[in-house]
Amino acid sequence: MTKKRIELKTKTVFVTGSAGFIGSNLVLDLLKTQSPIKIIGIDNMNDYYDVSIKEWRLNQIDKIAAEHTDSTWTFIKGDIADRAVIDDIFAACHPDIVVNLAAQAGVRYSITNPDAYINSNLLGFYNILEACRHSYDSGAKGVEHLVYASSSSVYGSNKKVPYSTEDQVDHPVSLYAATKKSNELMAHAYSKLYNIPSTGLRFFTVYGPAGRPDMAYFGFTNRLVKGQTIQIFNYGNCRRDFTYVDDIVEGVKRVMAGAPERKNGEDGLPVPPYAVYNIGNQNPENLLDFVTILQEELIRAKVLPLDYDFEAHRELVPMQPGDVPVTYADCEPLLRDYGFQPGTDLRTGLRQFAEWYKEFYQV
Ligand SMILES: NC(=O)c1ccc[n+]([C@@H]2O[C@H](COP(=O)([O-])OP(=O)(O)OC[C@H]3O[C@@H](n4cnc5c(N)ncnc54)[C@H](O)[C@@H]3O)[C@@H](O)[C@H]2O)c1
Repeated sequence: MTKKRIELKTKTVFVTGSAGFIGSNLVLDLLKTQSPIKIIGIDNMNDYYDVSIKEWRLNQIDKIAAEHTDSTWTFIKGDIADRAVIDDIFAACHPDIVVNLAAQAGVRYSITNPDAYINSNLLGFYNILEACRHSYDSGAKGVEHLVYASSSSVYGSNKKVPYSTEDQVDHPVSLYAATKKSNELMAHAYSKLYNIPSTGLRFFTVYGPAGRPDMAYFGFTNRLVKGQTIQIFNYGNCRRDFTYVDDIVEGVKRVMAGAPERKNGEDGLPVPPYAVYNIGNQNPENLLDFVTILQEELIRAKVLPLDYDFEAHRELVPMQPGDVPVTYADCEPLLRDYGFQPGTDLRTGLRQFAEWYKEFYQV
């Protein structure tokens, strides 16, 4: 699909979930590389995980924003499920590009807390789509590109690897995955009906400094530090396409700058300017190897003592409901259309995480 090139500098960008792991890293990068730029961020600062990490990330953004006085950074504490909040932001700021990263994430939590997923991921995303739709009212230029987070979890327990965006993904195995697939369907309908250029990104297990404490590598670290045992699911036979956060940010930024082109079909009606891409490392790693490198890097960063007895602190356990045995991204379309593929190796990425952990928790 042909893309319309968008120069990010001087644009107004609305990032939802901007105190989140990926959102905060995106805002930081945009300020550093695309100034002058106007960025509005929203986050409801919910306590699904330690809010002090979200505050730390916002602090980092404030520091970088202060160094780029030609740009503006505005943070709004608010909920994307609140229609009036979203409409007010669009009315006041007229964003050129919208990046929707706010969501209730996590596969396991969706088993016990389904409401959070319906509110943030379905109602919240609907509000974003409606605001994009009405951004064109009265002939206004409106939103040039809506980029939103989907997830590798939409592939459910598909057997064929690598996962391709051409594959059928109609059998989600968690409510989280079902909401992400729904986002893609809703975006398609809105692209077709209202000609909104939209791109969905299926992220594959993102990790890095100031990441999410609910994710395995972070939880493992917390337990190892306390001398507790870690549980390695599916007896270690899980393979994950672990993707370093800087690679995700680079991918999102490139995608933001290339929107699916608007054009009409033979019937004179818009062909939906719609696309979905995988962003993953294309190199699934065995969970046990991942944990071994993590442990080595935690020792190197002095988070764990040199003589740490790793064997004594791990337990191999069966698969958990909603989990999938392998995630493996086919990222050829991303390379073809945006000239980029994630490539950071695990040791480099986990070293950054271990060093951040040491400093943040003053271990
Ligand atoms: N990290 C990953 O491995 C991964 C993988 C696949 C998809 N994703 C998706 O990428 C996006 C970003 O993920 P992340 O890892 O940065 O997660 P995150 O939880 O760190 O970030 C999401 C942010 O959104 C905020 N938020 C949640 N609901 C909100 C609402 N209703 N209104 C306003 N703010 C709200 C949260 O407070 C949080 O700060 C999410 O959509 C997630 O589903 C992440």
